[in-house]
Amino acid sequence: MTEPVLLYGRPPPALFPDPEGAVQASPMEPGGIDLAEPPACMFASALILAPPGRLERDWVLARALQLLPPGGKLLALAPNDRGGPRIAPTLRSFGCAVTDDPRRRHRICSTVRPLRPTGLDEALEAGGARFDQQLRLWTQPGVFSWDRLDPGTALLLESIPPLAGRGADLGCGLGILALHVLKAPGVESIELWDIDRRAVQCARRNVADPRASFHHGDLRRPDGPGGDLDFVVMNPAFHEGGREDRALGAAFIAAAARRLRRGGVCWLTANRHLPYEAPLALAFSEVQLRAEGAGFKVYEAVK
Ligand SMILES: C[S@@+](CC[C@H](N)C(=O)[O-])C[C@H]1O[C@@H](n2cnc3c(N)ncnc32)[C@H](O)[C@@H]1O
Repeated sequence: MTEPVLLYGRPPPALFPDPEGAVQASPMEPGGIDLAEPPACMFASALILAPPGRLERDWVLARALQLLPPGGKLLALAPNDRGGPRIAPTLRSFGCAVTDDPRRRHRICSTVRPLRPTGLDEALEAGGARFDQQLRLWTQPGVFSWDRLDPGTALLLESIPPLAGRGADLGCGLGILALHVLKAPGVESIELWDIDRRAVQCARRNVADPRASFHHGDLRRPDGPGGDLDFVVMNPAFHEGGREDRALGAAFIAAAARRLRRGGVCWLTANRHLPYEAPLALAFSEVQLRAEGAGFKVYEAVK
């Protein structure tokens, strides 16, 4: 039996079509494997679309090398403006001989796993999950706002009144909104959803409350859960693959409306420049601007 390719992310098909039978290991792909866990099979080679953040990228490259056998091929790429030029120096610091080719505004680095790589443990520790003493939360490089409170989230925290009933935190990140909402005794349950497995894992550790449940999934799925929830809280994502994607914010709004009962309420925060008024007006019967500041706005939308 041939050993599968370890695939991380979705490299542009024009450069690398998805290798047949590859095993997806990006935390942003529900249904893929968890790269942090011991794998169920051996990998012959790895194809990595390296993430842009340094600690996150180094963690992924180190972990891929750790999982390959000596001599196993690793191919890592990233756009020039998203960390591509940093891949080769990192691989060299791990003791790899690297070829570094520029192609289609990407850097494409090939190497093989050396017999004794160096510096992997340090990179794995620097990019791994940890308890942040300042945030007082479990977090990991690569998760949204992993080392500071986002100002939009902060404004929403100041604005949300005590909620009650059954609800959801859509795009929960570290679980900061859910933690706040759960202070209200009237909250019966809250679902925490995120597309980033690492976020869900951190939120699970941060929100130690029996009323909370945790879900790794993509809110854009049209066959996602419907519902009759009483409330939703969210700071919708509007970046996909590092680029602004306003459709993603609109998809969050549609998902919130789908999950709520008639009369249910959605509290959301957004960058002031984002045009969410139209999708909100389409999906909700009443929309009020409740707070503004630091470049953000907070809406209360009633279905
Ligand atoms: C702006 S962050 C907010 C995180 C957290 N609620 C906070 O306020 O700190 C948006 C979150 O949505 C998640 N996300 C992005 N696209 C998603 C999708 N399609 N389905 C589910 N979650 C998604 C991101 O991983 C990120 O954690």
